[in-house]
Amino acid sequence: MTSGSFHIRPARTADVTQIVEMTQPLVERRALVPKETVSYYESIQEFLVAEVEGTGEMAGFGALHVMWEDLAEVRTLASHDDWRGRGVGSALLRRLVERARALGVQRVFCLTFEVEFFTRHGFEVMEDQSAVDPEVYAELLRSPDEGVAEFLDLARVKPNTLGNTRMILHL
Ligand SMILES: CC(C)(COP(=O)(O)OP(=O)(O)OC[C@H]1O[C@@H](n2cnc3c(N)ncnc32)[C@H](O)[C@@H]1OP(=O)(O)O)[C@@H](O)C(=O)NCCC(=O)NCCS
Repeated sequence: MTSGSFHIRPARTADVTQIVEMTQPLVERRALVPKETVSYYESIQEFLVAEVEGTGEMAGFGALHVMWEDLAEVRTLASHDDWRGRGVGSALLRRLVERARALGVQRVFCLTFEVEFFTRHGFEVMEDQSAVDPEVYAELLRSPDEGVAEFLDLARVKPNTLGNTRMILHL
């Protein structure tokens, strides 16, 4: 069991290798969306990292991706197996939601198997697409981003999302 504490900081490019390594088993379980390494570099400013005090090791990470004026997604949130159940995921999620507030977003989406965890943080299961009006839906269709396609529940990404639950937090 790993001991010690951690702090949350913005991610750096040097974190990408470890992020990719840690996402691999979660991608295989379809808990996280498969992505090319270049996508992690391109989106590194969206990421926060939980760094273990003193060691520089990573206890977890997570990202906030803005989709529209009032809408963002928490994505690629994960804690290291050795750190599960010790507050890493919650600390990251709280900071990502703070970021969403600071950006002026009013709703935060996530697609997850971890329904209880997100429910404890105020997220609700989405019954339908009512979170976006038809005009915004049409605009979001133009996005090349796979996470946005999953939010829209497009047929081409359904194999990735099978069994996941769509949830939303109203800020
Ligand atoms: C979801 C996930 C990020 C949660 O990470 P975590 O670090 O275990 O989260 P926390 O420790 O904050 O919370 C987990 C549990 O530990 C408990 N807990 C929180 N702080 C704690 C602490 N200091 N000590 C002991 N337990 C604690 C919480 O009550 C929580 O209970 P729950 O599992 O019944 O909700 C993690 O399980 C994960 O990596 N899942 C796979 C990836 C994924 O599905 N991500 C979501 C989609 S983007």
